[in-house]
Amino acid sequence: MDNRVTLFEVGPRDGLQNEKDSVPTSVKVELIERLVSAGIRHIEATSFVNPKWIPQLADAVDVLNQLHREDDVVYSALVPNLKGLERARQTGIREIAVFMSASESHNKSNINKTIEETYPVLQEVVEAAIAEGMRVRGYVSTAFGCPYEGEVSLSAVARVTEKLLRMGVYEVSIGDTIGVGTPGQVKERFISLIEQFGAARLAGHFHDTRGTGLANVYAALEAGIRTFDSSIAGLGGCPYAPGASGNISTEDLVYMLHGMGIETGVQLEKLVETGAFMERVLNRTLPSRVLQAMKKT
Ligand code: HMG
Ligand code: MG
Repeated sequence: MDNRVTLFEVGPRDGLQNEKDSVPTSVKVELIERLVSAGIRHIEATSFVNPKWIPQLADAVDVLNQLHREDDVVYSALVPNLKGLERARQTGIREIAVFMSASESHNKSNINKTIEETYPVLQEVVEAAIAEGMRVRGYVSTAFGCPYEGEVSLSAVARVTEKLLRMGVYEVSIGDTIGVGTPGQVKERFISLIEQFGAARLAGHFHDTRGTGLANVYAALEAGIRTFDSSIAGLGGCPYAPGASGNISTEDLVYMLHGMGIETGVQLEKLVETGAFMERVLNRTLPSRVLQAMKKT
């Protein structure tokens, strides 16, 4: 196995979008700065979606503008449409991410459009962003199962992935939005997707709803995937996917990878301190197992 994995931290976005109460902007800023000082180099800081849909991230422009930004860190944010891109421009970020689902009903409930209606909307976002020199990442949600439709076919996942790559996204993150995937299925799907699109253009995005998150990472690693999304302390979930819970935790992922001799560039102790900071802020125990095992009480 190659001995390096790229970590894509999504806690400030996927994590905090699902908190019942909005976290103060200053805490979001501190969280991101702590993650960066732990060694994280790719971070989804927030999201420029409709604040009526996700009020928790309504302060997206302020979060990015208040951050002390490091030159060697890629700060990214979700953008669903041109209105979102217009807000992203006010922050000068150099990377954004577009997203849609492989299943019709989750796409509709999450972004209020059919799959076919979504393509032209994302196409214009990707074109405009690239024309301005931004890099664009893509997400395919419900790639291993849908909260409304159950099974989602691999051909549906491949179709949306191909569309996004043709639009010009540099990588597609394959999302197990509701954490239903299991390792055999994950390996099989990634082997097929890698055959079609190449490992360098794919990432794994697992939620740990049913406890299969890290096993799924291992299966995707065996298939050849080398970029994984994760969330500090295991925060997270999609508010428009009933039953969705946290992403795999960054601490747990890093612990496993380092134990396998795989480099991540991240200092685990500093991540654990950051997870503990979020527990203090949110005043509850968070899901990460490594956080529970390593935090200083
Ligand atoms: P819509 O209501 O259909 O939008 O929402 P619209 O185009 O009809 O506009 C309605 C109003 O919203 C207008 O204002 C727009 O200007 C405004 P009005 O004229 O009524 O005053 N508006 C906006 N305002 C600010 N920023 C914007 C924006 N867009 C419209 N960007 C939309 C369509 C897609 C915007 C909405 O459905 C939405 O925001 N959905 C996002 C839901 C979301 O964030 N879900 C979670 C993220 S996805 C996820 O978690 C999965 C992932 O982690 C991977 C995985 O796990 O699988 C990525
Ligand atoms: Mg997610």
